[in-house]
Amino acid sequence: MYLGIDIGTSGVKILLLDQSHKLVGSASAPLMVTRPEISWSEQDPDDWVSAIIQAMDELYQRYPKQLASVCGIGLSGQMHGAVLIGVDDKPLRPCILWNDGRSEQQCTQLSQIADFKGITGNLVMPGFTAPKLRWVEQNEPEVFSKIHKVLLPKDYVRLWLTGTYGTDLSDASGTLWLNVAQRDWSDTLLTATHLSRQHMPALFEGNAITGQLRPELAKRWHMSSAIVAGGGGDNAASACGMGVIAPGNGFISLGTSGVVFAPTTTAQPNTQSAVHSFCHAFPDMWHTMGVTLCAADSLSWLANVTNTSVTTMVNTLPSIIERASDVQFLPYLSGERTPHNDANARGAFVGLHRATSSEDLVQAVMEGVAFALTDCLSAITKVNAQQDTQLATELNSAFVVGGGSSSSQWLDIIAAAMNIDLLVPEQGDYGAALGAARLAICAVTGEHISSICLQPKVSKVIHPKPNLVEQYQRSYEKFSTIYPSLYSQRVS
Ligand code: XUL
Repeated sequence: MYLGIDIGTSGVKILLLDQSHKLVGSASAPLMVTRPEISWSEQDPDDWVSAIIQAMDELYQRYPKQLASVCGIGLSGQMHGAVLIGVDDKPLRPCILWNDGRSEQQCTQLSQIADFKGITGNLVMPGFTAPKLRWVEQNEPEVFSKIHKVLLPKDYVRLWLTGTYGTDLSDASGTLWLNVAQRDWSDTLLTATHLSRQHMPALFEGNAITGQLRPELAKRWHMSSAIVAGGGGDNAASACGMGVIAPGNGFISLGTSGVVFAPTTTAQPNTQSAVHSFCHAFPDMWHTMGVTLCAADSLSWLANVTNTSVTTMVNTLPSIIERASDVQFLPYLSGERTPHNDANARGAFVGLHRATSSEDLVQAVMEGVAFALTDCLSAITKVNAQQDTQLATELNSAFVVGGGSSSSQWLDIIAAAMNIDLLVPEQGDYGAALGAARLAICAVTGEHISSICLQPKVSKVIHPKPNLVEQYQRSYEKFSTIYPSLYSQRVS
């Protein structure tokens, strides 16, 4: 038996798989985000631990026998969060999350101090970990001086599970201290932020063994000894869950954030378009990724401010979308990464008129997110000026996952806006928790990633509807003019 544990932003999820890698059961528990100031986003790391205990207790109630034979645990989690712990292994402050935008100034400073862009192949963006550490150094020096280790969210959970400091290369890629091409910490970049290798967890591939489950925890759920595998950042782990492990494959995630993800055989930087160029969660593979910060979260926001639920709102739309909305929406409620790299970008409705209805707003939000994903796709398929054309990523189809993908209207809108086929996996759980469990299987059995990380059956292919493609090309052109006219371009 295997467990996959995913520490998401809105909740933790645990999957239990049997010896033949089939799903036995799952449990989850919710998490809250606190926003003490505009553009801040934090969580208490011990809330992740409490949520995992809650979900594990539930699994134990339902599957006591099966839990007893778990031999491998895989971890995945929200990326980039800065968990700062002291010598007693306790958090020194709340974790500063991936969608926190407080460290813009520090990004500018870091870019001037060292060649982060050249060494990591990524722009210095506020969501990443290193600028957050500089913010802490400048604003909370007493916290900075006590830092014993800097961990990522899933690796704080690893410490609690095993007592070891470790991370995997896909998650480490999002810190800005990793030389992504060489798959190793960069001493130059650590020194530039007044840190050293001593502050960092050991690096592992996602399918390597990082430690053993602590006996006290094993006892609580009557488990025997189990190994904990490296696992992956949530996007690389989701890719393992969907068998997106080779070039030509890809996925689009419509979760809190929106992601367009494609594997690559080398590190493939494109900092001009704020693309994420990271290691994949297993040896000798990398990936490229565009990230928009508020995808399904934009709909949740609209539901919140209009005092309704996302489901009620989506049900007000016609079941088939025939016409593009004449209202435009910028989904930059938490700033934006790809392609603008602007933590201060903000959302906007443009083109409202007296007859605009609430349904128009819902459709406009879905379209705005679809255009932000189109920006991500075009950023990852665009060839960097310094690069060989043959390295350009090509995507003609992509799996689509995440909460937002349950809306057929949204899928039609996205397929038409991006003009690619969307592959809807058959009913099931193919996300990060499954990918984490699969990495644990590889760690325990030594099997190759390609024989474990298989693709799900496709239940439906959403082809772009020609009438919508044409309309959305025009709307996308309009959409693309709004950001430059409201904000100055900040990619640098
Ligand atoms: C990726 C990113 C998000 C988080 C959210 O760069 O910031 O996808 O990992 O889970």
